[in-house]
Amino acid sequence: MSESLKESLTDRFGRTVDYLRISVTDRCDLRCVYCMSENMTFLPREQLLTLEEIIQIGRCFTELGVSKIRITGGEPLHRRNILSVFEAFGQLDGLNDLTITTNGTQLHRFAKPLADAGVTRVNISLDTLDANRFKALTRNGDIDKVLNGIDAAQKVGFKRIKINAVVLKNRNHDEVCALVEHAIKRGIDISFIEEMPLGVIGDHDREECYYSSDDIRRDLEKTFDLIPTTETTGGPSRYYRIANEQSRVGFISPHSHNFCDTCNRVRLTAEGRLLLCLGQEHSVDLRTVVRAHPGDDDTLKQAIREAMEIKPLGHDFDLSAKPVIFRHMNHTGG
Ligand code: GTP
Ligand code: 5AD
Ligand code: SF4
Repeated sequence: MSESLKESLTDRFGRTVDYLRISVTDRCDLRCVYCMSENMTFLPREQLLTLEEIIQIGRCFTELGVSKIRITGGEPLHRRNILSVFEAFGQLDGLNDLTITTNGTQLHRFAKPLADAGVTRVNISLDTLDANRFKALTRNGDIDKVLNGIDAAQKVGFKRIKINAVVLKNRNHDEVCALVEHAIKRGIDISFIEEMPLGVIGDHDREECYYSSDDIRRDLEKTFDLIPTTETTGGPSRYYRIANEQSRVGFISPHSHNFCDTCNRVRLTAEGRLLLCLGQEHSVDLRTVVRAHPGDDDTLKQAIREAMEIKPLGHDFDLSAKPVIFRHMNHTGG
């Protein structure tokens, strides 16, 4: 099909959806305090989409105009045989950006096969450089595994590597400069994220821990000369450059700088629910569609087109209220 005739997905508000995030498992070897509660129940295996179903759905989305797929979790590299999904997506015409968001603990093993499969960019979660703090924030993680994972990713030469840091007041807000220094030393990007109220976590009060992107920027500007840019990776980060450095500093600010009006994405959960917004419950059960009509791309594509009709305008996050979205972040991978 010629470029001009290529189909695209558009919602009721005229937003084009060209970015699909796929969570391939809700399990993770870490228990980050802002993401999960201490005791989580995970989905039984038979409720997950099979790898073949994930591949079919991803392919159909690209045929409907999606040009960017990000694989998330839980921790995506925990899903058995997950490389086959990357290898299949790496072959798809029309996919310009195949990416992953990972906690990095297995990257030392996976960096090379991911790059070989066609992954272009990797986002790695890291909120602190201090081993004890890391243990506390992840409820028992080993920071060295992540740092080794970033080393391995740098060696295989992805187009871009980005660190994601969720910033919590009085837990890691005093480390933002050190984290940027670290990113500069490595020549990679970093994004700072405002915590979102998804699921009951039991560890801290989200309102008390709120540290806004403007607070972070003010702290950074005491040390760094931040230059605003209009650069985008098709995600929600607003990027700044640092004079004479390769690294970009991004801010993901769902509370202080709402970005829903330019939303270009939808999410597939590990059990096959297509979520039309991270901050709402509107969804369509694609697992039922693919299982009722095995191998029938037309029916699946029609269900995807119709789903665009219920994409909501945006989230209603309110840190001062009790959580209204009970789904934890590990179901959607962010
Ligand atoms: P890039 O492709 O590098 O731009 O990635 P990204 O920032 O889109 O994805 P990543 O997985 O690195 O997500 C970083 C953070 O942004 C996570 O905490 C996500 O939850 C958050 N995020 C991504 N998309 C959205 C969104 O549509 N709405 C909200 N509220 N947060 C989002
Ligand atoms: N709010 C904001 N970001 C979160 N993440 C996980 N839970 C939350 C939350 N409640 C981040 C992870 C990872 C990304 C996918 O989402 O740290 O970087
Ligand atoms: Fe899009 Fe919903 Fe995220 Fe807003 S909160 S950017 S509408 S997914």
